[in-house]
Amino acid sequence: MITNEELMNIAKDVVRNSYSPYSNFPVGAAVLYDNGNIYKGTNVENSSFGLTLCAERNALSTAIAEGEKGNILAIAIYSPKEKMCAPCGACRQWIWEFANNNDIQIILEAHEEGLHITSIKELLPLGFKLR
Ligand code: THU
Repeated sequence: MITNEELMNIAKDVVRNSYSPYSNFPVGAAVLYDNGNIYKGTNVENSSFGLTLCAERNALSTAIAEGEKGNILAIAIYSPKEKMCAPCGACRQWIWEFANNNDIQIILEAHEEGLHITSIKELLPLGFKLR
């Protein structure tokens, strides 16, 4: 299984493909499943700003489109513009949807201070999920 640093390096790599001409705030995300599969995503903005897709939801959508059925272990999120770029509220809800009540590690880049590790249960207490 890959290390947190390696997963973060994948998020750092995909950020180069970000389409963020309006905010100039590129974000990259990499999702690791318990079978070792990894999916990447970056933010995709739009002239109609509200249609912007975040990096995390892009990565999760890619996993679903690829037919991934495993459990998510961790998500690394990176922006060169912000220390510890944390997932927005919408993305927290998306991550929780696929947590299956398990906790998921959220790996953030604290720049010169290394990685900051948190979890979806910490970032979204009492998360909502239909059963
Ligand atoms: N963004 C993400 O990709 N993920 C987040 O969790 C926070 C925000 C993007 C959306 C937009 O393209 C840019 O960051 C500025 O909000």
